[in-house]
Amino acid sequence: MSVRFNRKLNSIPGYTPGVPRGHSAEDVAVSDLAQLASNESPFPPLPEVIEAIAGAAASMNRYPDPDATLLRRKLAERHETEPARVAVANGSCEILLAAGEALLEPGAEIVFAWPSFSMYPQLAAMSGAREIRVPLGPGQVHDLKAMLREITAATQLVLVCNPNNPTGTYLPFAEIAAFLERVPGHVTVIVDEAYIDFQQHDDPDDTVDLLEQYPNLVLLRTFSKSCSLAGLRVGYALCSPAFRAAVDAVRQPFSVNALAQAAATEALRHGDRIQERLESVIIERIRMENGFAGLGLETAETQTNFSWISLGENGAEIEQQIVDDLAAAGVVVRPGALLGGPGRLRASYGTREEDDRFLAALSGALADRT
Ligand SMILES: Cc1ncc(COP(=O)(O)O)c(C=O)c1O
Repeated sequence: MSVRFNRKLNSIPGYTPGVPRGHSAEDVAVSDLAQLASNESPFPPLPEVIEAIAGAAASMNRYPDPDATLLRRKLAERHETEPARVAVANGSCEILLAAGEALLEPGAEIVFAWPSFSMYPQLAAMSGAREIRVPLGPGQVHDLKAMLREITAATQLVLVCNPNNPTGTYLPFAEIAAFLERVPGHVTVIVDEAYIDFQQHDDPDDTVDLLEQYPNLVLLRTFSKSCSLAGLRVGYALCSPAFRAAVDAVRQPFSVNALAQAAATEALRHGDRIQERLESVIIERIRMENGFAGLGLETAETQTNFSWISLGENGAEIEQQIVDDLAAAGVVVRPGALLGGPGRLRASYGTREEDDRFLAALSGALADRT
């Protein structure tokens, strides 16, 4: 007789990592593969941040501060809010999962757009809540009106990914504010702002000003992307004190390790240099979008560090071949079929050299396959 696991395991989609078939994440890190599949930063952490990590390593015999007191204070200063409104986590994914645990149960409903971040379906599967996926509207932008129509008395959680992964598309602040005005107060709205620093339309902290007005609003941020700290796992929510208490109630006390706390605190001291890096990513974005247009490929209007590239009419048929051809040329991107958008590729921007290699390999693969 074999061990019986919880039945919900059968419906949990699981996360497919962005490494090519037959490779481990370690292989990719030491190889010269252009890793453009996970929307990471191509830059290593700032030297001061690496030093802070090395300094903190000497105290690894101690548990970390369970309240991340210093980091939460620095984040509160940075966003001009109070530490009670900051929940720090083992990557922003931890907040998503904890929100599922704290808010959802069988009979409840969760509403999110599709395609959107691949973790969202997991929240429904893990809790037994009913998921409602609302197709993106024209231009592959969130259809907030259609999402509002799906909200019922049973809705517990609405997720808005802004800018959206995998399409890169952005909803201006005014639309988010108008949406919140119409969402009933019993519904928690998580605006997942993992890529907010890469958009050029609004001040990234405009939404922070809405927190006092809407106790049901949660803003999700991460150090993984703009701060080059994906490997350390540190993210945070700006939220009501009640949401923070709920998240803390369902997760282990020491989820953010001491190295992550030290690194993130140090990164906050170097906002100017992180801003310079952000600007270089935005310049690369323009260059790459021009490159895709030069190959005759359409993309969604991105405000992130990645592009969502349509492979044209027979895209769904050639997508996997193109991904395999690119991998053979040392370039790793995500097939759209895995992300809810068959016939497309999602590719993050790398270094200039990696991106040139990608464009050349893509041009060759398209010539062979179309
Ligand atoms: C939209 C979105 N939200 C959250 C995350 C998770 O980020 P973290 O590394 O902070 O868990 C990602 C990572 O790719 C993402 O794309």
